[in-house]
Amino acid sequence: MRTRITEMLGIQHPVVQGGMQWVGLAELAAAVSNAGGLGILTGLTQPTPEDLLKEIERCRDMTDKPFAVNLTILPTIKPVPYDEYAQAIVSSGVKIVETAGRNPEPYLPMFKQAGIKVIHKCTSIRHSLKAEKIGCDAVSVDGFECAGHPGEDDVTNMILLPLAARRLKIPFLASGGLGDGRGLAAALAMGADGINMGTRFMVTKEAPIHENVKQRMIEATELDTALIYRSLRNTARVFKNSVAEKVVEIESRPGDTKFEDIQSLVQGVKGRELFDGGDLDKGIWSAGMIVGLIDDNPSCEELISRIVKEAEQIISERLSAMVAH
Ligand SMILES: Cc1cc2nc3c(=O)[nH]c(=O)nc-3n(C[C@H](O)[C@H](O)[C@H](O)COP(=O)(O)O)c2cc1C
Repeated sequence: MRTRITEMLGIQHPVVQGGMQWVGLAELAAAVSNAGGLGILTGLTQPTPEDLLKEIERCRDMTDKPFAVNLTILPTIKPVPYDEYAQAIVSSGVKIVETAGRNPEPYLPMFKQAGIKVIHKCTSIRHSLKAEKIGCDAVSVDGFECAGHPGEDDVTNMILLPLAARRLKIPFLASGGLGDGRGLAAALAMGADGINMGTRFMVTKEAPIHENVKQRMIEATELDTALIYRSLRNTARVFKNSVAEKVVEIESRPGDTKFEDIQSLVQGVKGRELFDGGDLDKGIWSAGMIVGLIDDNPSCEELISRIVKEAEQIISERLSAMVAH
């Protein structure tokens, strides 16, 4: 398949692995890139900008294909030296960055000067248009289905994608709720130039997380996600385990929820321990509704080629048969 995204990023298939805290390590990003997609290292998963530089080198040792780095600019419990992470990305020579969380404008001049393509992940059309206006090269349009932060508008990709196609000039990726060839074909039909997947890539052989987590996600249905931090207007879609249910319960109590009320339950370090040790009720982890469509643990190569093949078949056989007379 050739799209504006494959052309712009120099990749074979229009499939991108979105940044994922604790998951986006070199093993996964390199596997996705070697399979012809775009793998993304998650910048803040590395404790310091120096560690990020080392992780980029590790990824280079595993692939000679393009890969990107995600820079997520969100409110955090501990302050993050974002400028230094951005500087590390520039000095590493990586040529694609995925930004998310906040307007990336302060970092665009340094990225542009270094010849870096910037894909900004947004959850609304107004933010996508803003990203286009400030000079981002592409956007990922993250629908309400997505894992992580879907924003507060609750608009699904069925509406967001055709709107993005009508209003944006720059290429865009459909993100959220995608995991198979039907999804890829549908996203392209709605005007996207490719897809960005998080949750689906968690359940692959190369994803560096405990088998218990992958198995639980294979067993899960589309009803097994929960929205937390709604009361704080910083909504996150996570897997519905006992900890997520407890957070939702605390947030539903009368009166305002303060972050301190839930902080001990949602600590990032606990999510990391959950991924490492496989104790499924240790903390929270991001997951999208697409868990309902995940029923195996393939390699990234198997997954991407299956998705692309299935989409090609749908487009060239099922859909074209409907219009051929
Ligand atoms: C475990 C996990 C961690 C994530 N962490 C981040 C992150 O740190 N920064 C970010 O921009 N997006 C993050 N995301 C969102 C993904 O990059 C992607 O936008 C999202 O997963 C798309 O929705 P999907 O899961 O339905 O494919 C995360 C997603 C998952 C599943």
